[in-house]
Amino acid sequence: MTRVRIAPSLLAADFTRLADALATAEQGGADLVHVDVMDGHFVPNLTIGPPVVRALRAATRLALDVHLMIEEPEKTLGEYLDAGADWVSVHVEATRHLQRCLATIRKAGARAGAALNPATPTHALAASWADLDYAVVMSVNPGWGGQPFLPGSVEKVRRLRNEAAEGGARPAIEVDGGVDEGKAAALAAAGAEILVAGTAIYGSSDPVAAIGRLRTAAEGVRA
Ligand code: DX5
Ligand code: ZN
Repeated sequence: MTRVRIAPSLLAADFTRLADALATAEQGGADLVHVDVMDGHFVPNLTIGPPVVRALRAATRLALDVHLMIEEPEKTLGEYLDAGADWVSVHVEATRHLQRCLATIRKAGARAGAALNPATPTHALAASWADLDYAVVMSVNPGWGGQPFLPGSVEKVRRLRNEAAEGGARPAIEVDGGVDEGKAAALAAAGAEILVAGTAIYGSSDPVAAIGRLRTAAEGVRA
């Protein structure tokens, strides 16, 4: 069985102490650090941009999973790649040129992902399997951390896994939004391989232990 990857989302961390949040992720045995980029257009919120991604890249050995919640990502994608993003996802709803975006990401040596909003059906990726390293199922409407998990997301993971297999592909499936210990087993059983968690980790009184608990919960079903 593939190991489940845990990706703490810095959105729920203290933005004045991002180095501490990275250290917590490392101590907890996280696999990736999830970085939420929001532009105030694709989503109402505004967060961080390429200079912060560059600073984060220099401050951790963990891979950075940069989630671009931005309109027309093709216009600024290069800046995030230059800043050292290791995994980059763009939203299918945000670009008319998904294939070009994914090819640009791969050409830079990063892993290419496509993210689906809750209302976007899985078949939006039907023509993209060959271009994708991972697919992101948004289990909340993107924009903020700390929102409740949309329950239909487990079935969506399963559907995506099956449709990818029918398309001859095996992208990693990432789930982002409202993920906690209680959801991890069902998500892993449905085929999720990357679990993003913000509030469940950085909102916890012991974030290092919270990472471990998420992993245990997710991997219990895979033993
Ligand atoms: C939502 C972001 C998520 C968010 C997850 O727009 O894309 O990555 O940080 O945070 P929690 O786990 O608190 O829902
Ligand atoms: Zn995210």
